Amino acid sequence: MPHIEHANVSSFLVDRVNLPSEEAKKHRKQVNGLRDRLADKIAADADYGLVKSLHAGSVAKRTALKTVNDLDLAVYVKKAEAPSEDAKLVTWLADRLFEATSNMDRSQFEEQDHCVTVNYKGSGLSVDVVPVLYEGDADDVGYLIKKNSGVRLKTSIPLHLEFIASRRQTHGLAFLELIRATKWWKRQIVNRMDADFKFKSFMIELIWAHLVDEGLDLSDYPTALESFFEYIVTTELEERIAFTDYTPASTIPARGSAPIEILDPVNIENNVASRYDSAGRDKIVQQASAALDALTDARFATTKGRAVDDWQVVLGPTFKG
Ligand SMILES: Nc1ncnc2c1ncn2[C@@H]1O[C@H](COP(=O)(O)OP(=O)(O)OP(=O)(O)O)[C@@H](O)[C@H]1O
Ligand SMILES: [Mg+2]
Repeated sequence: MPHIEHANVSSFLVDRVNLPSEEAKKHRKQVNGLRDRLADKIAADADYGLVKSLHAGSVAKRTALKTVNDLDLAVYVKKAEAPSEDAKLVTWLADRLFEATSNMDRSQFEEQDHCVTVNYKGSGLSVDVVPVLYEGDADDVGYLIKKNSGVRLKTSIPLHLEFIASRRQTHGLAFLELIRATKWWKRQIVNRMDADFKFKSFMIELIWAHLVDEGLDLSDYPTALESFFEYIVTTELEERIAFTDYTPASTIPARGSAPIEILDPVNIENNVASRYDSAGRDKIVQQASAALDALTDARFATTKGRAVDDWQVVLGPTFKG
C-alpha cells in the first residue's frame, strides 16, 4: 500500500484547505446583506439603474479555499441607463451601491478599474461587485465585465452555478474537494515558486468537469489527482474542451488557434482561456508534469518520509501525511 492514501489527503483538505462551513455561512451572510439592500432599493425605486444581483464566484460555487478573502457579486445593470465608458460606469455603480445602503461611508465603495470593491470594516472581508450589462435576456444572460481586463463577455452567472452544481450532484463532494485541492496546488506554486504563474480557477473547474464527464472516478483522491495532472501532461492542453449542457454538440465549432481552448459552457464563442499564450500554457504543463512525477514517486516510495516529501511538492510544506 502507498504510504499516503486517500484518507491522508482527505483529512488534510478538511483541516487546511476547505473553507469551514461556519466561515462560508458568515461570508454568504455578508454578501446577502448587500443583496437585500439592493433588492429593497430595486423594489422601491423604478428608476434605479440596477436590476438584480447574484452571488458569483467560489463561495457561491462552494469551491472556495480557506484563504478566500474576496467575494464576488454580479450586479445586473440596465444597459440603457448606465454610462458606457468604464471609468464612468464604475463611479456610477459605486454611487448606486452607496445609495442603497445605510451605515456605510462612500469611501468603503472603492472604485477599481472595472469593478467596485466594497470593504467591510468589522470582518475585513471585501466584496468585488462586478457589473453585468443586461437587456432582459433569458437565463440571466448578459455582458459580464471582467474585473481585471474590462473585457465584455456574454455569459450567464446562474447557469455557471447550475453547471458546477450538476456535477456536484452526480459526483458528490469529491468533485468540489478535488477542485479545491487543485486550486491549493496552484496557490503553492504562486506563493513559493512563481508569482506570475496563472491558472484560472474557472479553468480548473471546467477541466475537472470534463474529466468526470468522461468517466473519471473520484473516490480515491491520490488517483484522481494523478489523473488530472496526467490529462494535462498528455494532452498538453492542446485538446479543446467543450460541453453540451447548454449547446447542442452539432453547433460546437472546430478547434481554433488559441493555445488553450476551454469553451464557456454557456457561450461557445467565449474561450475561458483566451488570455493564455503558449508560454502560459507551457508553464501549466510543466508544473503539472512536476506534480505528476511527485505523485508517481509517492506511490512507489518505500518510506513514509519520502512519500510526504513528494506530496509536499503538490500540497505544500504544511502537508505532514
Ligand atoms: N472567462 C470567463 N468567461 C465566463 N465567465 C467567467 C470567466 N471568468 C470568470 N467567469 C465567471 O466568474 C466566476 C468566478 O470565476 P473565477 O475563476 O474568477 O474565480 P472564483 O471561482 O471566484 O475562484 P477564486 O476567487 O477562489 O480564485 C465564474 O464562476 C464565472 O461565472
Ligand atoms: Mg473569486
